[in-house]
Amino acid sequence: MSNLVKIFDTTLRDGEQSPGASMNLEEKMRLAHKLAQLGVDIIEVGFPASSPGDFESVNQIAQQVKGPVICGLARTGHADIQTCWEAIKPAEKKRIHVFIATSDIHLEHKLRISREQALAEITSGVGLAASLCDDVEFSAEDASRSDPDFLAQAVATALEAGATTINIPDTVGYALPDEFTERIKYLYKKVPQLKKATVSVHCHDDLGLAVANSLAGIKAGARQVEGCINGIGERAGNASIEEVVMMLATREKALGLTTNINRKEIYPASRLVSMITGVTVQPNKAIVGANAFAHESGIHVDGVLKNPLTYEIMTPEEVGIGQNNLVLGKHSGRAALKARLADMGYELDRDNVEKLFQAFKRLADKKKEVFNEDLEALIADEILRI
Ligand code: KIV
Ligand code: ZN
Repeated sequence: MSNLVKIFDTTLRDGEQSPGASMNLEEKMRLAHKLAQLGVDIIEVGFPASSPGDFESVNQIAQQVKGPVICGLARTGHADIQTCWEAIKPAEKKRIHVFIATSDIHLEHKLRISREQALAEITSGVGLAASLCDDVEFSAEDASRSDPDFLAQAVATALEAGATTINIPDTVGYALPDEFTERIKYLYKKVPQLKKATVSVHCHDDLGLAVANSLAGIKAGARQVEGCINGIGERAGNASIEEVVMMLATREKALGLTTNINRKEIYPASRLVSMITGVTVQPNKAIVGANAFAHESGIHVDGVLKNPLTYEIMTPEEVGIGQNNLVLGKHSGRAALKARLADMGYELDRDNVEKLFQAFKRLADKKKEVFNEDLEALIADEILRI
């Protein structure tokens, strides 16, 4: 079994389903470029059949963003799948993600179809997707509340129809870690051909267990984890990508697992998501919260000054949080701005510094502090024009 855990980012799809987090095309494009820099393996960019706007943003990202696999979501209906395919077709690497619910409560009360009809939908939808695209993911929505034997049947049916990745979502964030491990182990036992596919987990955070359940899935053999930056997403959110990545990184020796993530881009990506969506990060949020590396108590400060490892299990630099304590705000001058840009790796000519300085001043009038990610956004707007 591979020691690489693929990171599937769904900030642009499930994340956008957070109340108030909708993004326009330009914002989605900027974020998709940032996710590519972060090194995620797959970006789920939207649900093309859900609206013409979603189709357009998926299609534009498919044309412009290189590196990660570009994935679109679709229900099992043929119209959804065709629309999804049209939207992602221009991408260098593409995936169709087909889903249908498999729990009785969803089948009876939401879809109003029988288990047999659900299996027929899987055969037909996944089959069509596999005839169009060689990378097809199947998700059994509400898998953690589905009858285990029926779930195994659904998984076997999807594999038979051509799915290459099988995703087991804890759609309502109900699973407990031990249960979730057992569920995935059971699927491996009941469906021997599952070994040939990639097993993925997609956990919601209704009980605050999304990251723990993702780890539980990995321990059972999952090699793809789905989540969102800052843990945004439907209701209480999705597994937080930065937490999953740093959990694997800090325990790399014990777990023997790696990711392709460029960890120095974690904080910049977090800031960008927060700025674009307007969803602020709680100060005590793991990895990217304002207090994640702050030390207050005398004993802790004393320890950290002697050796940061006394109270820090990772360094802020490792996740892209600079050591620079100089605050940029409305009183800052060109020198401070230039120093910060140099710190961020930008060497701009005089004209561009001036252009940026004017934009920076306009922004600084509106907010207390201007962060690196605000500058990244200004650079994208004023200089790169993306
Ligand atoms: O939570 C869920 O089940 C989903 C699926 C569409 C994968 O978001
Ligand atoms: Zn979800």
